[in-house]
Amino acid sequence: MDLKALIREIPDFPRPGVSFKDITTVMRDPAALAYIIRSMARRFRDERIEMVVGVESRGFALGSPLAYELGAGFVLIRKPGKLPADKIRVEYELEYGMDALEIHKDALAPGQRVLMVDDLLATGGTMGAAARLVQQLGAQIVGFAFLIELAYLGGRQRLEAMGFDSDRILALVRYDS
Ligand code: PRP
Ligand code: MG
Repeated sequence: MDLKALIREIPDFPRPGVSFKDITTVMRDPAALAYIIRSMARRFRDERIEMVVGVESRGFALGSPLAYELGAGFVLIRKPGKLPADKIRVEYELEYGMDALEIHKDALAPGQRVLMVDDLLATGGTMGAAARLVQQLGAQIVGFAFLIELAYLGGRQRLEAMGFDSDRILALVRYDS
């Protein structure tokens, strides 16, 4: 299926020179949504995934159906101030300024086999931070699933520099410029 044809590109959003990849147009297509979730599940079906971890907010939209498809649980990594119980936080750099992500301390058990999910891999700042949270809880990251990879922004290399194998980083649609 040609997912790229269903992803809407918005020129100069949110800033001049940036071509925004809008997933709403692919998510609303029933056949495309099923294809995305099944393609991600197929890659990790034999990896005994116990928990899928999704990153707020667009990672939730793909992560929860993927967890269901894999027979796994779903864990939420949230933006600051949203989680009510005992949590840990990681701060990470954005292009301008800092952001943070949080996870409940009891969300994952040590050694648990985890699949990390988000809609898009750009610089890898978000997923790198999310991976650090999961590692701090002692869980084992088996792989990463993204709908979109902006290859020219180096997110894959950032995850590789953290010790993750490139063949465990799945992206269904790749943009090279
Ligand atoms: C976007 C996207 C990824 C992240 C990728 O999320 O959904 O999570 O940026 O960028 P990076 O690889 O350079 O970190 P955003 O923070 O815009 O928020 P949203 O998912 O809540 O819309
Ligand atoms: Mg996001």
